[in-house]
Amino acid sequence: MLIAANWKMHGDRAFLTAYFEGAAALCWPEAQTHLVFPPATLLERAAEAGTAVGMVAGAQAIHPARDGAHTGCLSAEQVAEAGARWALLGHSERRAQGETDLDVAAQLEAAARAGLRGLVCVGEGLAVREEGEAEAYVLGQLAAVLALPAPALDALGAIAYEPIWAIGTGRTATPELAQAMHRALRERLEAVGLGGLPLLYGGSVKPDNAKALLSQPDIDGVLVGGASLDITAFNAIARAANE
Ligand code: PGA
Repeated sequence: MLIAANWKMHGDRAFLTAYFEGAAALCWPEAQTHLVFPPATLLERAAEAGTAVGMVAGAQAIHPARDGAHTGCLSAEQVAEAGARWALLGHSERRAQGETDLDVAAQLEAAARAGLRGLVCVGEGLAVREEGEAEAYVLGQLAAVLALPAPALDALGAIAYEPIWAIGTGRTATPELAQAMHRALRERLEAVGLGGLPLLYGGSVKPDNAKALLSQPDIDGVLVGGASLDITAFNAIARAANE
């Protein structure tokens, strides 16, 4: 199981200190991976503090280039130096700012170059779902990534299915709906020899719905936004994965 916390644009040093103190006081299931994606300003501290509680830090976004005139961006090498071991790629809130499927593929190449694992996010909006096109849309988002040659593709660490209509809305996909999409993703990945890749669900995951989602056969973890800001809630989600 892979349980990931995406803080988005939340948190400061005081929050981070309290978060990891809280984490240290709680029991965490062994034999599953816990990731934390803090804002870039807190990456170095999160990487250090996370070590003590077995949480691995990742960057919320990276630029494909190694360096250059890209004001406000961070390269894979820069976040790796700050302690990131993973990077979120193609989160819907980034795609909404203009990131394309090809950008996400280029970011995975950059992640591979810097020795990071990429957690690629996919997911359809409400209109696409209502048109009955969700599966084709999501598989299409993945196509550019899966078309990458082997060294870059090796950096693909996990995929998160996050239906946009479920993110931050309190409207979670039913376990059955999520499972159906995860099954489709699994079959596509199996066809290219990546059937063992962890498939995460994201979108209004909370302590009270985590167990039902995580007990689906093709859901191997969760990517948690809002509820991950509360260490007790995040811990409850992590423990639900182990029940
Ligand atoms: P949410 O966010 O849990 O607040 O819905 C999930 C995400 O965007 O990764």
